[in-house]
Amino acid sequence: MKILLVGSGGREHALAWKLSQSVQCDELFCAPGNAGIAQCATIVDIAESQIGTLVEFAKTNQIDLVVVGPEAPLVAGLADRLADENIPVFGPSQMAAQLEGSKGFMKRLCTKYNIPTAAYGEFSEIETATTFIKENGAPIVVKADGLAAGKGVIIAQTIEEAIDAAQGMLSSSDFGVAGEKIIIEEFMDGEELSFFALTDGHSVLPLTSAQDHKRAFDGDKGPNTGGMGAYSPAHMFSDELEEKIMETIIMPTVNGMKEDDCPFSGVLYAGIMIVDGIPKLLEYNARFGDPECQPIMMRLQADLVEVLYQAARGNLESVVDDVSWSNDTAMCVVMATNGYPSNYPKNTPINGLEDAPQGEDICIFHAGTAKDENDQIVSTGGRVLGITARANSTKEAQSKAYNTISHIHWPDGFCRKDIGWRAIAAENDSAPHRKIV
Ligand code: AMP
Ligand code: GLY
Repeated sequence: MKILLVGSGGREHALAWKLSQSVQCDELFCAPGNAGIAQCATIVDIAESQIGTLVEFAKTNQIDLVVVGPEAPLVAGLADRLADENIPVFGPSQMAAQLEGSKGFMKRLCTKYNIPTAAYGEFSEIETATTFIKENGAPIVVKADGLAAGKGVIIAQTIEEAIDAAQGMLSSSDFGVAGEKIIIEEFMDGEELSFFALTDGHSVLPLTSAQDHKRAFDGDKGPNTGGMGAYSPAHMFSDELEEKIMETIIMPTVNGMKEDDCPFSGVLYAGIMIVDGIPKLLEYNARFGDPECQPIMMRLQADLVEVLYQAARGNLESVVDDVSWSNDTAMCVVMATNGYPSNYPKNTPINGLEDAPQGEDICIFHAGTAKDENDQIVSTGGRVLGITARANSTKEAQSKAYNTISHIHWPDGFCRKDIGWRAIAAENDSAPHRKIV
């Protein structure tokens, strides 16, 4: 098969790595890719926003499957345009991608199909928003309706802060059109994890869980980022929890979307808050998480081409028994350019990558790299590398990842030193019980 992967981050490098291992993969293209992805795919110089050019490329090159990594091309209708040309695509239609693209859409679906989530109101006028905030009190959560690159959520500790946030979003100054409508919702106090499931619109294949670290600095402090590291499975994940999430959140979503003539095909990435043992939906994304995808791919025991192709063809049922998971924990530690998530330099040289230990259980996934005219690897973004390792404990996976990092020479980069700390603390707590068992 000839496959086109769309995207250029660490998530796409992990997908490219796994897709390229399939016996069914004859040729893998990636647009626009990065210097790491170039090790396992042919790079195509088309930006993910150039929908028409991507479709043209897929037609001209007789691509058998398009896999879309990021949300923006999905929300812009790439899957619809490919479907019009009868090109199988893994990723939802523009309408179904509203699950991620509009928080109001997602909340209305939850209300209609009784999916547990925070109580909320939807507003486009500051007067009604203010009344709602005053009635409900703080802490309270204010969210821009549309895509805001992970920055459209304000957890307000006071009524004044919430009104300010609502005002900033509704006056279009803070988030542009994404904030013309806002959601104001109940603050949920609990433990957070992410859960992933594949669907072709009617059948569902539960994948696994992951946990990311959104804050820039150690101890989960500092500004929010796209994610500074992640591990899979999440440490509080269990079969019982998976059953609850599938029964109360994922299945009603897939069935509800189908019922509403808006079937969702692709990967559902559910942000879950566990409140008193009950999983509640925080948000949906219509794609794999980045960096969650990196450890998930490292644990996946299946032919990814076959699984995504059958999902794209509406035949997911045929592969549900072919997917299993390594019992190991996998962890991704992100290396970012100094200054991220604010301003940071570009084109800084990175050395030592070829000397760092790598294998099937240790990968250096590239998220924002290029080769300059001297063949030197340089950084091109905020998040630049995702060092991912798998082992039979979180602690061991962590030490493998940090050992690999110690070989990388990049004075302009940094990483958190404590990815997985909660899971390691939980492992330490449970160690004596394990011995007794
Ligand atoms: P979202 O983009 O909706 O997932 O929000 C980003 C982050 O904000 C989540 O990962 C949570 O940590 C936090 N968050 C969002 N909504 C709530 C809520 N209703 N209660 C508590 N925390 C929330
Ligand atoms: N790591 C968070 C995300 O991919 O949205």
